[in-house]
Amino acid sequence: MHLVVANEAQKVERDRHTYAAWGSPLTVEQFLQRELRLRAHPWSQAHMRTWLLCDDSGRVLTSCETFRTGSVLRGADGQESPGDSFIIASVFTEPALRGHGYATRLMDLVAAELERTEPQAHAAVLYSDVGARLYGRSGYQEAPAWDWHLPVLSSLATRQVDSLLEDADVPAALERMRRPEVPFFLWPDAPQVDWHLERERIYAELLRRPRPRACGAVVGASTALWAMVARLGELVVLMLDARSEDDAAALLEAARAQAHKAGLAKVVLWEEPGTMPWVARLPDASREARDGSLPMLRPLRAGLPAAADIHFPRALWA
Ligand SMILES: CC(C)(COP(=O)(O)OP(=O)(O)OC[C@H]1O[C@@H](n2cnc3c(N)ncnc32)[C@H](O)[C@@H]1OP(=O)(O)O)[C@@H](O)C(=O)NCCC(=O)NCCS
Repeated sequence: MHLVVANEAQKVERDRHTYAAWGSPLTVEQFLQRELRLRAHPWSQAHMRTWLLCDDSGRVLTSCETFRTGSVLRGADGQESPGDSFIIASVFTEPALRGHGYATRLMDLVAAELERTEPQAHAAVLYSDVGARLYGRSGYQEAPAWDWHLPVLSSLATRQVDSLLEDADVPAALERMRRPEVPFFLWPDAPQVDWHLERERIYAELLRRPRPRACGAVVGASTALWAMVARLGELVVLMLDARSEDDAAALLEAARAQAHKAGLAKVVLWEEPGTMPWVARLPDASREARDGSLPMLRPLRAGLPAAADIHFPRALWA
């Protein structure tokens, strides 16, 4: 068995298989379009690879994707080392080939290849939809995963934000956000955030539904970015940098109002320690064990904290 970086034709061939796992509610043709568009996006063009595990005859046994993302490691002296982390996505083995250890082997080989070829590699990260056991075998540690669900806001907002953000405002919004004061963190760039909005645009077009008018808001020094996940009827908060409890409440109210106007059912915020107590005090927020997308991290170098001590904002999902 050996590892291959897929060419364009091989990627499209894999899309036909992965439709079974990730296609609904799109048709096969729509899903193929979705995949082509997502791969054509600048973030994917710059940072995505599709990996195949092949047998000696060249038959594909299993596949996955990696996306490079920025990460920062702080030494004990406070010195920052910027590096690369790799989000692993779309791990897929055809049903007839499952249970032979192929996905495990692929995870091991991809991590070894990244360690070997990427001098600035910090970590491999994935969001498991199949629990922790499979990836735990390949050295991934899980982090706790809780979500906050907020109902949409159909009445007038009680708090004002300074402005709503549009797609073109994402780079400036990210610039405003404080980087976490922690030993290690993952940080998206503007194209990476826009990739989530590209997903929103694709689903809005294919499912013929309106996009939210805004993809974020600012109030004072605080900023939020969000995106619609049309197939789930949710607005997901991608990044939230709230400097006070009032700001957090105002930004989330703005998100809830936008979700209502776009015909969505709720707002979902991935729990992070910085904002958790404030969100918990919102009268109608409920804390839910996350269904899928369990963050897991495999260090690709020494000196990283345990996965449980790392923050995973939703913008870092792929
Ligand atoms: C998950 C998947 C990639 C595993 O591929 P595989 O080549 O069979 O993987 P391996 O043989 O290395 O490991 C199989 C293990 O995965 C576990 N697994 C597979 N699907 C699972 C699920 N839905 N929930 C929990 N565990 C699951 C199997 O139970 C098995 O565990 P065990 O060996 O401890 O008994 C494959 O089942 C698949 O493509 N599923 C559909 C797409 C998907 O969900 N991908 C994962 C996204 S995070």
